[in-house]
Amino acid sequence: MSSSGAKFQPYRKHVIMCVGESCSSPEVSGSLYEALKERLKALGLHQGPERIHRSKSSCLGVCQGGPVAVVYPEGVWYQGLDRDKIERVIQEHLIQNQPVAECVFHQLSEKPGE
Ligand code: FES
Repeated sequence: MSSSGAKFQPYRKHVIMCVGESCSSPEVSGSLYEALKERLKALGLHQGPERIHRSKSSCLGVCQGGPVAVVYPEGVWYQGLDRDKIERVIQEHLIQNQPVAECVFHQLSEKPGE
């Protein structure tokens, strides 16, 4: 490994939420992103190696049916999120590793190319 000075901070999962303007209202998705941030903090999932890393994107390439978010490492894509649904994603997927099937519109294959 290189000793370039960059340091990886480990985390358990990564949620990337679109806050762009084509898939939903940026006010709605921005508010949802803030709610996610607050809930993760309240649950103690915002720090340490078991934390849930979160990022926002200006576009995830879907551009409809938002708010849209993707959870890695599973590559599970969610659409039509609201506060109730994001709470279910937190409780069922991020904590219990069970994706919320009724909000999933795509999942990456475990076999690349499929
Ligand atoms: S603007 Fe949200 S996916 Fe493109």
